[in-house]
Amino acid sequence: MSRPDAVEFPPGFLWGAATAAYQVEGAAAEDGRSPSIWDTFARVPGAVIGGHTGDVACDHYHRYAADVALMEELNLGAYRFSVSWPRVRPDAGPVNPAGLAFYDRLVDELLAHDVLPWLTLYHWDLPQALEDAGGWTNRDTAYRFAEYALSVHDALGDRVGAWTTLNEPWCSAFLGHTGGQHAPGRQEGANGLVAAHHLLLGHGLAAAELRSRGVVADTAKPHSGLGITLNFTVADANDPSDEVDVDAARRVDGLFNRVFLDPLFRGSYPADVLADTEAMPVPGRSSWTDAIQDGDLEVISAPIDVLGVNYYNGNAIAGRPHPDELVSNENETGRTTSTPYVGCEDVIFVGRGLPRTAMDWEVQPEGLTRLLVRLDEEYDVPPLYITENGAAYDDEVAADGSVDDPERVAFIDAHLRALHAATEAGVDVRGFFQWSLLDNYEWAFGYTKRFGIVHVDYDTQVRTPKSSARFYAAVAASGSVPP
Ligand code: NOJ
Repeated sequence: MSRPDAVEFPPGFLWGAATAAYQVEGAAAEDGRSPSIWDTFARVPGAVIGGHTGDVACDHYHRYAADVALMEELNLGAYRFSVSWPRVRPDAGPVNPAGLAFYDRLVDELLAHDVLPWLTLYHWDLPQALEDAGGWTNRDTAYRFAEYALSVHDALGDRVGAWTTLNEPWCSAFLGHTGGQHAPGRQEGANGLVAAHHLLLGHGLAAAELRSRGVVADTAKPHSGLGITLNFTVADANDPSDEVDVDAARRVDGLFNRVFLDPLFRGSYPADVLADTEAMPVPGRSSWTDAIQDGDLEVISAPIDVLGVNYYNGNAIAGRPHPDELVSNENETGRTTSTPYVGCEDVIFVGRGLPRTAMDWEVQPEGLTRLLVRLDEEYDVPPLYITENGAAYDDEVAADGSVDDPERVAFIDAHLRALHAATEAGVDVRGFFQWSLLDNYEWAFGYTKRFGIVHVDYDTQVRTPKSSARFYAAVAASGSVPP
């Protein structure tokens, strides 16, 4: 079989890797950090496999300098990390200088190694004190988020150019408040839409504050500005000639992709999502749409400089029982959860016989090309960055300590080629972040799923770059995927 050609990315394309605070930092009770909703949720019996917590994680809080040195060794141009809200404003109270100081040290270390800091303000670790006051279903949380964003900007704004408000608000809203797979573990149906609206409002309010402090896409500083990171699926009707499947795929697309894209880039919620959900019961409200106040959509749809795209897989969707149903492993812990798709109890995810990762997610690189082309064609999006893509596999450590992960290498290779195809089709994509730099705490799966290009031995905290790290380092150095 002939080998595929090499593909070249344009000069200046940004090659990075990503992590998130709760997944890697550890030091959960140090320097004044207060509990987040994940500290609480991880302790709910059955919520997380093995009862694993982020108390220690990869101990990145103490080992960040060695981790940054490793980034340089791997030729990374950028590090996407998140700031822990309960470290910076414990119990959602005043600023905690000792907590902020960690990010100060981290950012200085990155800059000293020529690695661009790409900062995310919210990667799911809401201070528990705010959850106790209603969390994201309370409008006040959006205002508190904007205040917290300013505290971070006050400390780091002189050195950080790339600002992301939220990571994957779909997960925060719907895994957190509808399905219950993620913290805070609520299963409250359409209240997930209330949470989604307040998350979007928090994004808009924080973005306005950052703009008022001068955060812009600075042409003198490539890869700067502010944005949001969304996760997407490509929702295909399993049988495109079956109107029941077509309608199920429309609903999933609406409740996964368009419920965020439309308010951000069109200033309105999708009419079909509104029609499907408006009459659904929500605790204490006559409809989730009560949460939308005059002016909110203007705040939410203010222009941004960057859209972060997280892509892992697409889905084939059926509207009636199907023999090839993909059984989601989100419930491996035995805890009962619900569908995160509001009102979609009838929807089935169907296997297409494609290879699967250790998460049971189908490997579907061409979905990335289709997704990027669609975003470009249907929405007036700013420059795109792939802020996450990657795969969990059951890696094995050889007797000599090395970790050979050919499946992950093939996954990265295929997705970079799919990304390249989108750029050839004219989509403006300016960077790619591998998820993840390190094996880490995979939320409800604890430490059982390894997404890193660098292996972490959780007993010794020894880091070992896998063969995928060497492969990715060569791509980052050359700007091309080898034949
Ligand atoms: C998306 C999330 O942002 C990240 O935290 C998670 O670990 C990866 N997907 C893999 O599931």
